[in-house]
Amino acid sequence: MSEDKKGYLTTANQKKVTTYRLREMKQQGEKISMLTAYDYSMASVIDQAGIDVILVGDSASNVMAGNTTTLPMTVEQMIYHGKSVMNAVKRAMVVVDMPFGSYQGDPYEAVGNAVKIMKETQADCLKLEGGKEILESIKAILNAGIPVMGHLGLMPQSINKYGTYAVRAKEEEEAAKLMEDARLLQEIGCCSIVLEKIPAGLAGEVTAELTIPTIGIGAGAQVDGQVLVMHDMLGLNKGFSPRFLRRYANLFDEITTAVQQYISDVKSTDFPSVEESY
Ligand code: KIV
Repeated sequence: MSEDKKGYLTTANQKKVTTYRLREMKQQGEKISMLTAYDYSMASVIDQAGIDVILVGDSASNVMAGNTTTLPMTVEQMIYHGKSVMNAVKRAMVVVDMPFGSYQGDPYEAVGNAVKIMKETQADCLKLEGGKEILESIKAILNAGIPVMGHLGLMPQSINKYGTYAVRAKEEEEAAKLMEDARLLQEIGCCSIVLEKIPAGLAGEVTAELTIPTIGIGAGAQVDGQVLVMHDMLGLNKGFSPRFLRRYANLFDEITTAVQQYISDVKSTDFPSVEESY
């Protein structure tokens, strides 16, 4: 990593997306694009496509491992995915999720886990779910010089508490708490906040109130950026169709067609040809 004349960090002659750049994008009204990735190959594609932020989400639990919740993910597993993504990325800002159980208790333990993830992945930022309840852990991590992205609204690590993936903060009391949490996260120094599955109007109010960027998933259009799980937006998961999900490809069917063609070519001895042989 080096620095250009204006002080922007650069890798391979490309301006790196940083926490500073995210704030600048909000100020300039430029929307932030963010997608998940968990491995080298896909991270390489989306970085070269120009994505601003790559989230090494604990949704790897569902998408990569087939678990029903994000709760089983461990610090070691997040480090494995984080390293794989970091090996590919030159331009995007890379954010790694702290997994369930690694920060909700003792702030001293939280900062230990955060330092371990940052040291071993060399990622740019960590994301933690929650507001007031985990404030001391977030402060400790920020005090260690590690940037933190907050996550409010539907917090999948708390799914057993909610008992449903329904829209959060529809009622006044929960909406007021979310706004208060957002203010607190900004006040202590978080660089941005993910708002998941909340009413568009509330997301708009939070976004207008804050100077740090908000990034929505199922939070409408009045936010500073959007995030989707890459495998969902590429149509790799046919069984998941929430209202907020726009599919940009139908890779499940495309891959099926390609694999069936390959099977047929192998069975018929069409593959390999003489040209494909030594
Ligand atoms: O883990 C994840 O993919 C996330 C997004 C849904 C924001 O946290």
